[in-house]
Amino acid sequence: MAEKPHSSSSIMFVVIAVAVLLVVLLVPLSMLGKGAAPTAVDDDVDQRIQPVARFELQKAAAGGGDGQPRDGATVYAKVCQACHATGVAGAPKAGDKGAWAPRIAKGSAELLKSVLNGKGAMPPKGGGADLSEDEVAAAVEHLLGLSK
Ligand code: HEC
Repeated sequence: MAEKPHSSSSIMFVVIAVAVLLVVLLVPLSMLGKGAAPTAVDDDVDQRIQPVARFELQKAAAGGGDGQPRDGATVYAKVCQACHATGVAGAPKAGDKGAWAPRIAKGSAELLKSVLNGKGAMPPKGGGADLSEDEVAAAVEHLLGLSK
C-alpha cells in the first residue's frame, strides 16, 4: 500500500506528459488545418451562391422578383423617373406638355424605338437592361399619359 501513491503519481505523470505531448503536437497541426481549410470552404460557398446572389440583386434592382411583367407605372418609377421626373441631362420632363407634344406627334411606335435603342443621353431601355420590350412600352405609355 505504501507504493500506491508513488505508482499512481507516476502514472499521472505519464498521462500528463502524454497529454502535453499530444497538445503540443496536435494543436499546431489542427491550426494548420484550420488556417487553410475554412477559407477554401468559404470561397467555395461564395462561388456557389454567387449566381443566385447576383440574380437576386438584379431582381432587387429591377423591382421584380415574382417573374411577372412589371406595369408601366412600376417601370417608370424604378427606371425612367430618375431622369424624366426632373429633366436630368435634357430629358423631356414628365408632365411638360410643351416638351412632349412634338415627340408625341412622332407616334408612340417611334418613341418606343427611341427608348429601346437609346437616344441622346438616354441609354437603351433607359438603362433598364433587363426590361422586356413590353415593359418598356408600358413605361412609355405611362410617361406619355403623364404628359398629354
Ligand atoms: C439617363 C436618363 C434617362 C433615363 C433613365 C430615361 N430617359 Fe428617356 N430620355 C432621356 C433624354 C435625355 C431624352 C431626350 C433624348 C433626345 O431627344 O436627345 C429622353 C427621351 C425620351 C423619350 C422621347 C424619345 C423621342 O424619340 O423623342 C421617351 C419616350 C423616353 N425618353 C422614355 C423613357 C422611358 C420609358 C424610360 C424608362 C424605361 C426612360 N425614358 C428613361 C433620358 C432618360
